[in-house]
Amino acid sequence: MKIGIIGTGMVGATLGSKLVQLGHEVKMGSRTANNENAVEWAKSNGSKASAGTFSDAAAFGDVIFNCTAGGVSLNALKLAGSENLKGKVLVDVANPLDFSKGMPPTLTVCNTDSIGEQIQRTFPDVKVVKSLNTMNCKVMVEPSVVPGDSSIFLAGNDAGAKEKVRGILESFGWKAGTIIDLGDITASRGTEMVLPLWMRLYGLYPNQSFNFRIVK
Ligand SMILES: NC(=O)c1ccc[n+]([C@@H]2O[C@H](COP(=O)([O-])OP(=O)(O)OC[C@H]3O[C@@H](n4cnc5c(N)ncnc54)[C@H](OP(=O)(O)O)[C@@H]3O)[C@@H](O)[C@H]2O)c1
Repeated sequence: MKIGIIGTGMVGATLGSKLVQLGHEVKMGSRTANNENAVEWAKSNGSKASAGTFSDAAAFGDVIFNCTAGGVSLNALKLAGSENLKGKVLVDVANPLDFSKGMPPTLTVCNTDSIGEQIQRTFPDVKVVKSLNTMNCKVMVEPSVVPGDSSIFLAGNDAGAKEKVRGILESFGWKAGTIIDLGDITASRGTEMVLPLWMRLYGLYPNQSFNFRIVK
């Protein structure tokens, strides 16, 4: 597949590198054409990796990953361009964390709305799938760093888009039974609102190699 990564932080780099290792072509986008992180990431990931603007990455990808801070995600995706995103699957990994008043962060949106829903409302032609946001990025791409089988969530309005994302998750090593489809995009609220709990656990387990497991 051709994949566009919107975001040059740790999450974009980790997902991008894993996707390249799996044989996909990946373009990482930034607000600027020559972002230092993006250029460095592309250089160290070989010929299948490239860098450009948000708009370049969105135009390039058949599947897009939103890897920007939740509070700026709508702005980043507007810069990516609705015409470049139209009809595509967009995996939203963002969390609405606001660190501006120090630790612990607060949520910029919660209870009756979420970043996933804001993106879906703003870009109705995009198939938004919320996933991966409830764990550290090393766990996202290598679930076995957490002993045993832990859980990962999917939420989105389009069944075909969720199947596509399920396939990507399985290629990362997530076993079929550990991927939990929570339903439509409003389920993003719950997965974003576990972040205060995740932050608290991070205080206890600073190496971040932990995850939630749903037991029935
Ligand atoms: N760290 C984790 O393991 C983890 C786990 C789960 C979920 N998440 C979530 O994943 C997302 C990405 O996290 P991250 O730490 O990798 O990156 P980040 O620092 O949250 O975001 C980096 C990106 O945000 C863009 N950006 C900053 N200000 C902007 C603005 N005003 N308008 C548009 N774009 C702007 C930057 O653009 P430039 O490239 O131009 O600088 C950059 O591409 C976050 O929502 C985070 O909560 C993180």
